[in-house]
Amino acid sequence: MNIIQQMFGVHNEYFLEKHWPTLPYVLQGDMNRFTELSSLEELHDIEKLLSVLNDSVDLLFPGGKRISVSDKFEALSAHTNGEAMIYIKNMEVIPAISSACDDLAHTLAVPRQYVSCEAFAANRDVEVATHFDHETNFMIQIKGEKTWRFAENTSLPDPIYPYFPNNPNRFYQNGRHPYTGAQLPREMPTKNEEHLVRPGTTTFMPRGYWHSTTSHEESFSIGFVINPPTIADIISYAVLEQLHSVEALRAHPLATHPTNNDDILLNIIQKGLNKMRNLSIEFSAEDLLHRYKSSKKGNTRNLSPI
Ligand SMILES: [Fe+2]
Repeated sequence: MNIIQQMFGVHNEYFLEKHWPTLPYVLQGDMNRFTELSSLEELHDIEKLLSVLNDSVDLLFPGGKRISVSDKFEALSAHTNGEAMIYIKNMEVIPAISSACDDLAHTLAVPRQYVSCEAFAANRDVEVATHFDHETNFMIQIKGEKTWRFAENTSLPDPIYPYFPNNPNRFYQNGRHPYTGAQLPREMPTKNEEHLVRPGTTTFMPRGYWHSTTSHEESFSIGFVINPPTIADIISYAVLEQLHSVEALRAHPLATHPTNNDDILLNIIQKGLNKMRNLSIEFSAEDLLHRYKSSKKGNTRNLSPI
């Protein structure tokens, strides 16, 4: 059984036809249906999990403060005394989790590098404040009970950055819509759903949906994250690659002499704009879709340090 069949059981086709990728879905079920994941010791023992991780983990505090810690004991202590939730990004160091990501990518026809897995460990009564994310999530509750509330985001569908009304990042200056400047809601819309999730429950949270959680006892969950480029990204990456193939356009816009005026730079920029105009005719939509589907690289041109 593929991972979607394990998550949604006999409802898997219904889920794919009616809910994926835009409508939420919560399916209660026994953890044993996850053939590989249910027997993973690391998912049932936070200390063991922390011991197999190479990277630092994040601590999420109520109110939105977030810090990265490399000392696993510090993380464990903040978790045990209920101060913060532990947020673990790279769960794929566990081979069975990496295989589940392979399976999910294959089943949903998403290039593998845009699928990842993260985990959340919280003590009782820890809340994650109302927010929305820019990614699509499949959350599996492994341990403890938790309440999820969620609602459709009609203010800013398909956001490209997450938004916490209590602690807006710089993309949402003063809690405003990045494109219209309108004030974004500070609270979850009143038309929301509430679900109690238990070990084995899968919650599908579409991109951009408002959500918040409250754990009622020690809680552990994993989330499979789908975060491909936007359509605009697919177009602009293809254009960018072609523009960067021209030496003059790879230059930084720095004057070569203090007395230079802007004419040289303006000419080069115009040359780039002309090239872009030609590219918009040369590229076909089929080329760009193929380029995305066969892409092996990640979202950006940032390379990790060697
Ligand atoms: Fe979230």
